[in-house]
Formats: sequence, structure tokens, C-alpha cells
Amino acid sequence: MIPQDFIQTLLDRTDIVDVIERYVPLRKAGANYLARCPFHSEKTPSFTVSPTKQFYHCFGCGAHGTAITFLMEHAGMGFVDAVKELASRVGMQVPDASDAQVEAEHHRDGLYEVLARAEQYYRETLKTSPAAIDYLKGRGLSGQSAARFGLGYAPDAWQPLAGVFADYRDALLEEAGLVINGEGGKRYDRFRGRVMFPIRNEQGRVIAFGGRVLGSGEPKYLNSPETPLFSKGRELYGLHENRRAIQQAGEVLVVEGYMDVVMLSQHGVDNAVATLGTAVTADQVRRLFRIADNVVFAFDGDAAGRKAAWRALENALPQLPDGKRAGFLFLPEGEDPDSHARAHGGEAFRQLVAQATPLSDFLIDSLTRKTELASQEGRVKLVKLAEPYLRQLVQAPLLAGALRRRLAELTGLPPERREFQGKPGPRLHSARVPQVRPSPWRTALLAVLQNPKLARQLTDLGTDPAPEAQLLRAVLDAMDRAPDLNSTRDVIEAFRGRPQQAALEQYAAHLITRGADYDAEADLHCALQKIEQQSRRRELQRLSRKPLAELTADEQRRLREAAQDMKPMPGAGVNNPDA
Ligand code: UTP
Ligand code: MN
Repeated sequence: MIPQDFIQTLLDRTDIVDVIERYVPLRKAGANYLARCPFHSEKTPSFTVSPTKQFYHCFGCGAHGTAITFLMEHAGMGFVDAVKELASRVGMQVPDASDAQVEAEHHRDGLYEVLARAEQYYRETLKTSPAAIDYLKGRGLSGQSAARFGLGYAPDAWQPLAGVFADYRDALLEEAGLVINGEGGKRYDRFRGRVMFPIRNEQGRVIAFGGRVLGSGEPKYLNSPETPLFSKGRELYGLHENRRAIQQAGEVLVVEGYMDVVMLSQHGVDNAVATLGTAVTADQVRRLFRIADNVVFAFDGDAAGRKAAWRALENALPQLPDGKRAGFLFLPEGEDPDSHARAHGGEAFRQLVAQATPLSDFLIDSLTRKTELASQEGRVKLVKLAEPYLRQLVQAPLLAGALRRRLAELTGLPPERREFQGKPGPRLHSARVPQVRPSPWRTALLAVLQNPKLARQLTDLGTDPAPEAQLLRAVLDAMDRAPDLNSTRDVIEAFRGRPQQAALEQYAAHLITRGADYDAEADLHCALQKIEQQSRRRELQRLSRKPLAELTADEQRRLREAAQDMKPMPGAGVNNPDA
């Protein structure tokens, strides 16, 4: 039996889009991805994958599920194999290990070991390599900084590591990305004549390296390839070293280079991390928002920097939760955080960070530049341009609402209600989504599935026998037992193999169709009011069926009072068309 919390962690680290993309080519469509359904034959795509819900649903044939379900149904794996497959991709070890797994774990330990050996070797070598030391000194780097980040040096020879490892032909060296097998079986070190930056995972184990040439040369930086331990779109340089400072500050700076992180730290700005030669990924942003409330992206002030910032913005939107902040910092042209900190010191850099442009300003300013607000047409265009981005704010409905109001002020156009705006995504309205009898219980259940944390607001759910009420009670029970169920997908997985699974999947499928401004919390409150009203009404009916003579004085009073209260409730249902 694989423990539930393992599955949850595993799914947290897995992106369903990556998993499905290996089998089915996906196309981005708004917040979701679309493809022709792999489970039935069709001409127009109705297979939808939601990165925020980590759930897929086919509006044609009704197939749906999580990443695990997909591997089971599409790749024909058993449950355990599907879990193992996902685990191996993200470098997790399935507990309750069979012999094969013990073997695999052993293998990974082997990889960690060779990387640790290599790191140690590079570090020692730096101490006796004047050219490398001069280079780093020339860049203003202190010995302390070099030590804090474990910098090293790979000598300029073909096989330095042959003197480090007893068996230079060991396959592990190649798998760890340390050696390259050339033509005719000739082996040589990947990193030669480079300053070495060890890249660590969150536990602090070395999983890869970045190596910089001394001075000029191509490529300037050479990074480890993707290995079983290292995926560059996932890791962040400096996260291990700076984690504590980031948590204390509640703020993290995302910069572009290794040297930026190291030099900022040397100047007392030790809450930075660097992406590894790629645009910041959604996965990275998600991880950063888990440890900090404020994520500030730093870019060069040139055109390339603005372009990179825009990509970062696109990846950040769906990950930004209401109540957290993202900011964008543009450095003066020709400077990067490394050179800025060197020239002006840490305090000056901190001031830049404090003045970073909030994501919402960056978004609206950038879009405003693409239109001209002087004409009515231009103002309409701005609203149209903005809407797809606002829809990406799936975890920040309040911010999305505020931005719609701001656009309304800016353009003089009314903030349209989301339901009526534009076409829904392709085929998202088509009919195979189960339409269940609307009831406040259903509304409440959907809200809790959307945002399980809301369950904390529920106390006594009574004994209503409605199926949705029973289901909701089952979900709350499950959450009592596993308080970390944080997402739709977590809840669904917690019910795998249980009688409620199918029904819950239907509800999750329905959630995919909800727009970005679906406000689960407001819906829930509304539903709870209705539920209470219903139960009072029922109590009233019970009382009014009793002969008056049998009513106690208290019951008579309640009957009178309730008769007055029972006028239609103002406001109920405003947020919730189907309750
Ligand atoms: P930059 O070219 O901005 O370099 O690359 P830098 O950080 O300012 O480097 P220095 O100051 O000249 O030493 C930023 C990041 O892009 C990746 C590296 O991760 C680097 O830190 N990169 C850059 C590569 O992977 N390969 C390259 O050839 C260049
Ligand atoms: Mn630089």
C-alpha cells in the first residue's frame, strides 16, 4: 500500500501537462491545454488538460482523471506502475519498496555520491589554481563567498576526473553528466577549464554543475545535462543556500545568473535565486510562492530583458495566489545584479527591489503600450487584450476583479461580468459535463473541491441525506484524517478506489469549466446560508404539522418568529447562478 501523503507529494511535484504531453501533443488554449482526445476518435479537439487543477477531461467522451489516471488509462499501466513512473521522473522513491526499488535507490545514491566526490575535487582544485583564483578575485569575489557557495575549478585537461574516480569508465559518471562519451569510445570530462558552481537540491545535495570559462570563450556557461537527479526547469540556483534568508524576508528575488546570486549574497542581499539558463517556469514560480509571499523578478533593462519579463509574467499569472505579490525589477541598461551590487552596494540594490513594478502595473502598462487610449477603439482593444491574461489569474480572483475595475476606470468601459465575456474557450461549453441538480450542497461541495482549505469554515453539516451532502461529509472526514489535502486533485486521489471516486471526478470535471473569477469562497458562504435556511424551513414544517396544542411555548415562539424571517432572503444566489 502506497501512503496517501506520498501520492500527494508526488502529484505536487508532477505537472500533468508534462506527463500527458509525452503521449499527446497539447496546444495552449487560455488557461488550459487542448488536444484531440486519445481515448476516442474525433476531428476537433475536446480533450482538455487543466494545469491549475492538474486534471484532464474530455468533453467528447467524458474520460477524465489525474496524471495517475492518465498513465493507467492511456499507457495501460497498473496503479503502482503509474505511481512509480511519475516518481522516477521527479526523483522520488516510492516507499514500501520492492527489491527493484531498493536497487533504484541504491543507484541514485551512487549518482549523488559521484557528484559529491566531484564537487569536493573541484573545490580543492580551486585552492591551488592561481588562474581561477585571479579570475574570481578580478570579479571582486571574496573567498568567503566562494566558500559559501562551494565554488570550485575544473582544470583545463581532458580527463581530470580520471584521477579522482577509481573507475573512469563507470557508467555512473556519464549518467551524472560529468563525463562525455565521444566518438570511438573516447571519454573525456564535460567540464574543463571552468569555474564550477555546484547546483544543489533543497536538501543540499549536489545534483548538477554550472561551469564558467575563465574570461572569454564559448559557451560562456556550460551546464550539466538533464539527469535522473537534475531537471533545469525545476531547480533554482541558490535556493538551498539562501532558503533561510528567503523565508525570513518573506521575499525572494529571481535573477538570471549564478554570479548574480553569489555577488548579491556577498553584498548582504541573500534572498536571491537564479533560473538555470531558461525562462522561469510555472513549476519554479509555484515553488517560490510556497516559501515566500513576495516574488520579485529582476531583468536587464534592455529589450531582451523586457521580453524575458513578459514570459515570466505569463508563467507567474496562474501561480499567483490572492494575498501574495509578484514584482518586476528592471536594471539600468548594461547592468546585471552582479555588476550593480559591485558598483553600488547591497543597499542600493535593495532599494531597487523595494521599487519593483507590481505585476498588475507591469501587465496593464505593457498592454497599454500596445494600444492607444485616445480612441474608443483603442480602449476597447485594451480590454480585449487584457482579458485572456486576467483569466489566467486562476488563484487570484480578487486581484483579477480589481484589475477589471481598474481597466474600467482607465477606459471608461464597464467591467463586464465574466460570464458574458467573449466566447468560452473552444468547445468548453459542450454538453458532456455532468449537469447535476443544482442544490446548495452541490455548490458547497464544488467550492470545497476547488479550494479544500475552505473546509475549515464548515462545522456542523447536519444529517441531510442528499447525496451531495453525504459526499461533502465524506470529503470533510477525509480532510480530518489528512489535513494537507490542498487541491482538487489531492482530494480526488484520496478517494481512489473508494465508492465516492467516480462522483467526485464528475464534480472535478465540472470545475474545469469554471472561469477565472469563480469565487469558491463567496459561493460557499452563499450555499451555507441557503442550507441553514432550508434546515430552518424544514424544522418549521415539522413544527407546523404538529397540533398547536402539542407545541411547547418555546416552539410556538419559534414558529411565530420564523414566519417573519422566512421572507425570501435578499442577496442569496447573486454569486451563484446554479445554486
Ligand atoms: P549571462 O550571459 O547574463 O551571464 O547569463 P552572467 O550571469 O552575467 O555571467 P557573467 O557575469 O558574465 O559571468 C545568465 C545565465 O544564463 C545561463 C547561465 O545560467 C547564466 O548564469 N547561461 C548563459 C548559460 O547557461 N550558458 C551561456 O552560455 C550563457
Ligand atoms: Mn554578469
